[in-house]
Amino acid sequence: MARITAGIASSHVPAIGVAMDTGLTDQPYWKPVFDGYEYSRKWTAENKPDVVFLVYNDHCTAFDASVIPTFALGAAAEFKPADEGWGPRPVPVVKNHQKLASHIAQTVILDEFDLTIMNEMEVDHGLTVPLSLMFGDRSPDDDWGVQVVPLAVNVVQYPAPTANRCYMLGQAIRRAIDSYPEDLNVHIYGTGGMSHQLQAERAGLINADWDLAFMDKLVNDPEAARRISHLEFLRETGSEGIEMVMWLVMRGALDHNVTEVHRHYHVPASNTAVGHLILENHT
Ligand code: DHB
Ligand code: FE
Repeated sequence: MARITAGIASSHVPAIGVAMDTGLTDQPYWKPVFDGYEYSRKWTAENKPDVVFLVYNDHCTAFDASVIPTFALGAAAEFKPADEGWGPRPVPVVKNHQKLASHIAQTVILDEFDLTIMNEMEVDHGLTVPLSLMFGDRSPDDDWGVQVVPLAVNVVQYPAPTANRCYMLGQAIRRAIDSYPEDLNVHIYGTGGMSHQLQAERAGLINADWDLAFMDKLVNDPEAARRISHLEFLRETGSEGIEMVMWLVMRGALDHNVTEVHRHYHVPASNTAVGHLILENHT
């Protein structure tokens, strides 16, 4: 049977991708960011997943104001990197596990979560930066060494889904993956965050106290974490902190009790507080 053995949370700051792609990771500004992922790369190599179910948000790359799916599941055979700003990163094309993706679409939709199915989609830094952080440098002619089922969550245009809805979707994804007959080691990623605001009067806002308390809550009291309102995310973590609802999808797919095997928190990377967790499932 397929099993979700771990959940990973990570920020996806695009400048982290640029730092990796242009060889800046040892610079004093960047080194503390990347040092916190050294353990994670070793851990990934030792606990090698067959598939990563990767919850991320698109930043007006694959979608714009003409189509705004709340939850979009990648069902295509592969997804090409693309991006706003700096353009596509020089990283491998992302390959899907299409049979698992189809099974998840079938199971989750009949479980009453109405996903959008993407048979064509490009993926931006929201997806590729966390993969680079966990799997290390990969050139475009390599492969990622893992298959990836992407789920894009709308956190760009209101109304975004609530933390609670994201948590419930995570529970449905868990049921779907648990019922897939092939033996697969699956890791689920919740990406984005932590506190950051990129625009207007409060641009540059960081709230380390809230971020660290959120990590504690997510790990040890998910019932409280799933109740955090949009207003609290906005007030406490800035306009882009809402990306953290995607961590709730990951958490909903894990056991109630998990083991935190790694935590990293660093300010700043670009305009953002970088947060990262590795949580192991017991069952
Ligand atoms: C930054 C962070 C993000 O999450 C993003 O999508 C774009 C930019 C930043 O800190 O610069
Ligand atoms: Fe973002």
